[in-house]
Amino acid sequence: MSSRPAEDNDILNDPRVLNLDRVVFIGRTFSEYMAMFNLHPFQLKGLSVLDCPSGTSSFVAEALSSQYQLKKVIGCDLLYKEDDANKLRNRGKEDLDYMIKQLSQVPDLYNWKIYSSISDLYEARNNAFKRFISDYELDRLIGRKGDITTHRYIHAVLPKLPFGNATFDLVLSSNLLFYYHNMFDYDFHLDSILELIRVTSKEVRIFPCQKPDATFPDYFDKLLDDINSRMNNNISFQIEKVSHEFRRGINKMLRINKKE
Ligand SMILES: C[S@@+](CC[C@H](N)C(=O)[O-])C[C@H]1O[C@@H](n2cnc3c(N)ncnc32)[C@H](O)[C@@H]1O
Repeated sequence: MSSRPAEDNDILNDPRVLNLDRVVFIGRTFSEYMAMFNLHPFQLKGLSVLDCPSGTSSFVAEALSSQYQLKKVIGCDLLYKEDDANKLRNRGKEDLDYMIKQLSQVPDLYNWKIYSSISDLYEARNNAFKRFISDYELDRLIGRKGDITTHRYIHAVLPKLPFGNATFDLVLSSNLLFYYHNMFDYDFHLDSILELIRVTSKEVRIFPCQKPDATFPDYFDKLLDDINSRMNNNISFQIEKVSHEFRRGINKMLRINKKE
């Protein structure tokens, strides 16, 4: 993980934002993913999908359900190195409690339509967490140690991923890039996004592409230009407004498509 801070650290002292002292190991549900990424489940049919980073999201576990008919779904995260699900359980509980405590101090920054209250939010995140952890336990029981082809939860540390070129049709990345702007610098964003693009044959979606104060990072246009030139212009970008707006103003998703 890059330790170099990005620009404008003043935001850390800004009471208008939720400030976290670390990247929290929490996660959202499948339906939250659909809303964050402007997706409908039928669009996933037959696709190979990577969720990076997956955290304690139940997206992978829920997407496996036969009704959605995905070809493959993989989650990866820095913390999946840990085979002992109990250690991940403790870390997940600790981070969920910490996030809820911090958010409880600034409730007015949020729209209370998706979740009706802090306890409703806690329940949604905790449901995702419980579903994830039992699926992770199963994955570690069934898969062969050290053989990533037998796992659906794979240890990976951006900006490097342990997958071949164009392994996935769709790569989803939520609540790490851009949002934790103060913990990751420009180079981390450039290298990570190029890596997400490398492992997809078609598309990457990143939510949000804004900082916690709902602005875009200063380097945003330069970043897209640099990605474009590194990809020999064989790429297109689109910023889409999504229906998932929990943190007020945070509703922009970056879609990156590889040209045929
Ligand atoms: C806030 S969670 C987001 C999880 C999920 N995508 C969601 O939206 O609910 C951020 C995750 O990023 C992981 N993470 C932090 N740095 C990473 C890196 N360099 N490579 C891979 N994962 C990383 C953390 O372990 C954490 O689980």
